[in-house]
Amino acid sequence: MCGIVGYVGPQSALDVVVAGLKRLEYRGYDSAGVAVLADGGLAAAKKAGKLVNLEKELGDRPLPTGTTGIGHTRWATHGAPTDANAHPHLDNAGRVAVVHNGIIENFAVLRAELEERGHTLASETDTEVVAHLLAEEFSVTADLAEAMRLVCGRLEGAFTLVAVHADAPDVVVGARRNSPLVVGVGDGEAFLASDVAAFIAHTRSAIELGQDQVVELRRDRVTVTGFDGRPADVRTFHVDWDVSAAEKGGYDYFMLKEIAEQPKAVADTLLGRIDAAGSLCLDELRISAAELREVDKVVIVACGTAFHAGLIAKYAIEHWTRIPCEVELASEFRYRDPILDPRTLVVAISQSGETMDTLMALRHAREQGSKVLAICNTNGSTIPRESDAVLYTHAGPEVAVASTKAFLTQLVACYLVALYLGQVRGTKWGDEVGAVIRDLSKISHEVERVLRTMEPVRELARTLAGKNTVLFLGRHVGYPVALEGALKLKELAYMHAEGFAAGELKHGPIALIEEDLPVVVVVPSPRGRSVLHDKIVSNIQEIRARGARTIVIAEEGDEAVVPYADHLIRIPVTPTLLQPLVATVPLQVFACELATARGNEVDQPRNLAKSVTVE
Ligand code: G6P
Repeated sequence: MCGIVGYVGPQSALDVVVAGLKRLEYRGYDSAGVAVLADGGLAAAKKAGKLVNLEKELGDRPLPTGTTGIGHTRWATHGAPTDANAHPHLDNAGRVAVVHNGIIENFAVLRAELEERGHTLASETDTEVVAHLLAEEFSVTADLAEAMRLVCGRLEGAFTLVAVHADAPDVVVGARRNSPLVVGVGDGEAFLASDVAAFIAHTRSAIELGQDQVVELRRDRVTVTGFDGRPADVRTFHVDWDVSAAEKGGYDYFMLKEIAEQPKAVADTLLGRIDAAGSLCLDELRISAAELREVDKVVIVACGTAFHAGLIAKYAIEHWTRIPCEVELASEFRYRDPILDPRTLVVAISQSGETMDTLMALRHAREQGSKVLAICNTNGSTIPRESDAVLYTHAGPEVAVASTKAFLTQLVACYLVALYLGQVRGTKWGDEVGAVIRDLSKISHEVERVLRTMEPVRELARTLAGKNTVLFLGRHVGYPVALEGALKLKELAYMHAEGFAAGELKHGPIALIEEDLPVVVVVPSPRGRSVLHDKIVSNIQEIRARGARTIVIAEEGDEAVVPYADHLIRIPVTPTLLQPLVATVPLQVFACELATARGNEVDQPRNLAKSVTVE
């Protein structure tokens, strides 16, 4: 969380930085600020609230033009989202400006020391101490990168910092520990950002910074060292999507665009996974087949929507491989001393690849000797880099805070992992794997079909805008889908929404049912596991008898539900385990439309951030 941009080159730094911040606003939107080096000095502006407030301020009080600058969009940790707490933070002389993502845990001690030495700190943030410390070190070294290395040596916690100094024109310095920071290398210009989206309009050539590294950007040179000053090895990569992928493309919201992109995202994630012999192959798999045959337990760790993908994966993994699978919230995982050993395969699912809870969980797993396989959407991010293997989802950039297309591609990736495990362990024959792959290949068209029939769902959502509560029920893989439907509604519509396993209803939640309470029920296929289907039809009758307004999501041709559905949403016939790929889509559309009807910000829901880089 928090978006950071830095620029040095021939263009107006302010224009480049503000345009970059627009693309990073998904990371936090409590306040925004910029600083540019101009006329031998440093000029800064910052404003609480969204980026538009800063843009207005810059319109009213323009900054001088300069070609070196930094910017920040904030998700508040220390200190309220006020103008004073907004980044950049400056030293007392106004010569250094710093932006920061993360938490400096020992800031109180450092602040007290600075105050003793006569510094006056103007904000409540942890970040401001860095500006003052950098000013002190620079006054001795006259080298901003060296000053940054010295300061980083004194900081504890997770931090990514970017700074400029009025006495170091044409230089931007960044430092990275834990939170993301990527360098963009242009022709006679260079960029720094939390995410490549900030500079993709200028260059697709990027350098991934590692843990505890400091980078010095000049127009024609990028120098990376460790915090200890030694030259560092860096990985350069080419960003394989262009600027249009990071724009709304005619949609009112990124979320609508991303929902619409799901058929392609699903198809792209499947692309190239089958080799000439018909066997599955995964990218960057640095775990051997022999090691995978030894695996006796799979543990999935993830947060938010990715956690729901993990819950669904458990059904597929256990069914197809007969290996026990646990799914755990990453934030809970390492604190309960989980039982892990080299035969445990840990699967870390993360769209951003930067979620701190997930990163800490995987580090803990590796310390215990377990192998970690990442399922991730972001090339160059930390989670894949620190894992033993990675399966990339090819959803393209996801900008809306509420995850949609990334979720569907995470499901596809989880199915692929389950099938791969089945393949190498011999619990699935080649023809069985092939049959599932064929079903998966058809899914993208089915998702397309679902998307074409969403108008009644939107209409229904608008009629429910005045409600306070919506419940979601499901069984089997429909249960995590119900949880995801409820999460979407909480995130976007700020409504009380809860997902339950339909069988648990009678053990408590049924007491919540009252006249006209909307209850969404995800109905399993009547084919195959018809017992489940019959039981959920009984559950629908039970709640309807108590006054609930039933919104039933059921397969085409499932006539048994018709008498009990106040609203019926049809989804295509799919194999039971794959049903979440089609059943989730109406719930995404439902939440998006309800949020719009309630006048909420769809892409940037209150208090949230897309990439959560603090624990
Ligand atoms: C945040 C986002 C969620 C997301 C979760 C995990 O809470 O708001 O939409 O599911 O983080 O993110 P990740 O990038 O690890 O998938």
